Amino acid sequence: MLKQRKLGKTNLSVSEIGLGCWQLGGLTTINEISITYGDVNEQTAVKIITQALELGINTFDTADSYSLGNSERRLGKVLSERRSEVNIFTKGAGVPSYNESSPFEIDLSYHHLLAAIDRSLKRLGTDYVDLYQAHAAPQSESDFVNLEKAFGKIKSEGKATYCGVSVGLEYQKGIELINRGIVDSIQLYFSLIDFEPVMELLPLAKKNGVGIIVAEPLSQGFLTGKYHKDTVFPKNDVRSRYSPEEIKTKLEKSKQFQVFSTNSRTMNQVALAYVLNRDEVSTCIPGSKSVEQLESNVKSSEISLNSQELDKIEIIQRSW
Ligand SMILES: NC(=O)c1ccc[n+]([C@@H]2O[C@H](COP(=O)([O-])OP(=O)(O)OC[C@H]3O[C@@H](n4cnc5c(N)ncnc54)[C@H](OP(=O)(O)O)[C@@H]3O)[C@@H](O)[C@H]2O)c1
Repeated sequence: MLKQRKLGKTNLSVSEIGLGCWQLGGLTTINEISITYGDVNEQTAVKIITQALELGINTFDTADSYSLGNSERRLGKVLSERRSEVNIFTKGAGVPSYNESSPFEIDLSYHHLLAAIDRSLKRLGTDYVDLYQAHAAPQSESDFVNLEKAFGKIKSEGKATYCGVSVGLEYQKGIELINRGIVDSIQLYFSLIDFEPVMELLPLAKKNGVGIIVAEPLSQGFLTGKYHKDTVFPKNDVRSRYSPEEIKTKLEKSKQFQVFSTNSRTMNQVALAYVLNRDEVSTCIPGSKSVEQLESNVKSSEISLNSQELDKIEIIQRSW
């Protein structure tokens, strides 16, 4: 059965591989911009969630903005029968935008977060979530103050047991949130390509008992070895926003790790084993679009990289 770890100093035991649910809500666009990874229909989403439970995954990460609530709705339908056995993590702050260049604006105000969690709970069909996360890092002093106040209120009303922030690549903001004692967890991008957290953020989180949730551990699929420099993502895929130069850079970096995959471990498994090698990581939450992808990802829990391999990985990363 899949191993579990503690989420920082909380009481939550999380499977070391969780399920990222961004792709499970189905095709959705805002201002004709795709906000998800192509189409995953409801039947497939239900199969993925059901098989995740079967494989020992007990931690599910979603957000109100994923397919405009549809990821939460689909997840809630399957998990309602198993509510006491699972950890449901959701997020709020993204507001569909009237600005044509970007699909979401961020609202970290106290009243927005309080209203957003109520709407999430309704869609999820539950009266609490195990973790509520702000879906973006605070940008101003008032954002920090609002977050702290909103998290206090949400926890005191029992709507979330714990609260955290998803900072993406804004690692310095994660460090500030930990130092100010505002969060139980930080969600961030961490992978063979985005390795900066190993320097300061991960050790600091461990010292302070703050849980670490790794988003995009496969660098949105670029660390699976299946994409090439001439790959063009369809318009209904969120990755179509990347320029050919951005795709080329990601692929050139990821290609350097292909030497670590063998007949018995695929590139995606090496990528997940790399993040799980860090004991500061509580859970990594790769997104899967099929049961086959899910099963392959879960097998990473049985793989470990030896110290020579980790040294070689570091040499590659430091050469960039
Ligand atoms: N700001 C935030 O808070 C934030 C941002 C991003 C993500 N997240 C969370 O983190 C989760 C994970 O991130 P992510 O889904 O964006 O990226 P990811 O996990 O790095 O990559 C997911 C993509 O990789 C491909 N893939 C997955 N498993 C595979 C396998 N075994 N073999 C081949 N390809 C595979 C799939 O797409 P294709 O098959 O189409 O290539 C899948 O959509 C999300 O679901 C979400 O819960 C949070």
